[in-house]
Amino acid sequence: MGPFVKWAGGKTQLLDALRDNMPESFNTYYEPFVGAGAFLLSLTPDIAIINDINEELINVYLKLKDNTQELIDLIESFDKEICNKEYYLAKRDCYNQKITHHILDIETAALMIWLNKHCFNGLYRVNSKGLFNVPYNNRKAGSSIDPNNLKAIGEYLNKAKVKILAGDFAKACESAKKDDFVYFDSPYIPQSDTANFTDYTKTGFSYEEHLRLSVLFKELSAKGVKLMLSNNDVPLVHELYQGFNIKSLEVRRNINRNANNRKGQEVIITNY
Ligand SMILES: C[S@@+](CC[C@H](N)C(=O)[O-])C[C@H]1O[C@@H](n2cnc3c(N)ncnc32)[C@H](O)[C@@H]1O
Repeated sequence: MGPFVKWAGGKTQLLDALRDNMPESFNTYYEPFVGAGAFLLSLTPDIAIINDINEELINVYLKLKDNTQELIDLIESFDKEICNKEYYLAKRDCYNQKITHHILDIETAALMIWLNKHCFNGLYRVNSKGLFNVPYNNRKAGSSIDPNNLKAIGEYLNKAKVKILAGDFAKACESAKKDDFVYFDSPYIPQSDTANFTDYTKTGFSYEEHLRLSVLFKELSAKGVKLMLSNNDVPLVHELYQGFNIKSLEVRRNINRNANNRKGQEVIITNY
C-alpha cells in the first residue's frame, strides 16, 4: 500500500528513517499534515486521526473510504479516452469549476487523482485564486491508478479506526493525550530564499506558522505525548526545537525542478 498521488514533501524516501525513529509503543496515531500519507499507509495504525488543510485532498481520503469502487470506476472511465492537451485542459477546467463552487464529490476526488497523473511533475499547485494551474505532462494513455492499491487503502480506512479531518494542524491535535504519538510533517522551511514551498494550498506556511507549530510541539511534549517531526536541516529548525533530539540525514528529493538540488539534508526531531 502506498500514496495515491504524488505530493510535494511526500515521505516515501524517508520511510525507513521514520520507522527507525518512531516510538516502540503508542496509543492513538496522529498525522496532522498527512498529505499523500506515505507514512500512515506504511504504518497502518489501528487507531488514527489524520488531517490536512487541503480539503480537496481530504475529500479523496473520504471517497476512498466510502466509495472505493465507484472512485476506481470513474478514474478508469477518464482513462478510456486518449489524452491530449485539449482533454487535459477540459478535465482541469472541470476540476476548477468544482472547487470554485466548493463541490467536493466523488468526481472531484477522481479528477484530483487523474490530474495528478497527467500534470507536469505530478505537482499539486494552486494560484492565488485557489485554482489548480499545473500544465499537461503530455502523457497520452495508460492507467492513472493501481486499483489494488486504492482498494487496499479503502479497506484499511474502513477496517482501522481512522478519523479523517480537514483543518488546521493545532485543532487536529486537540485530543492528543499522554502516550499518543503525533508525527508532524509540515511544509518545509525553505533551504534558501529562492525556494518556494507555498504551493500546497492558497494559504502557504509562513515563519509564524513554523513558530506556532514549535509552540504546540512544546505544549504536547509537556503533556507526555510522543512526538516526531521532520523538516529541512536549516538553522531555524535547530533554534525552534533546541533541547529535543535532532538527527540529521541525507535524502533524495523528488519534487525539484533543478536536478542538482534533488539531494538535501533533513532532520528528524523526537521528544523521547
Ligand atoms: C510536507 S506535506 C506532507 C507530506 C506527507 N507527509 C506525505 O507523505 O505526502 C505538508 C502538508 O501540510 C498541509 N498543510 C499546510 N498548512 C497546514 C495547516 N495549517 N494545517 C494542516 N495542514 C497544513 C499541506 O496541505 C501539505 O499536504
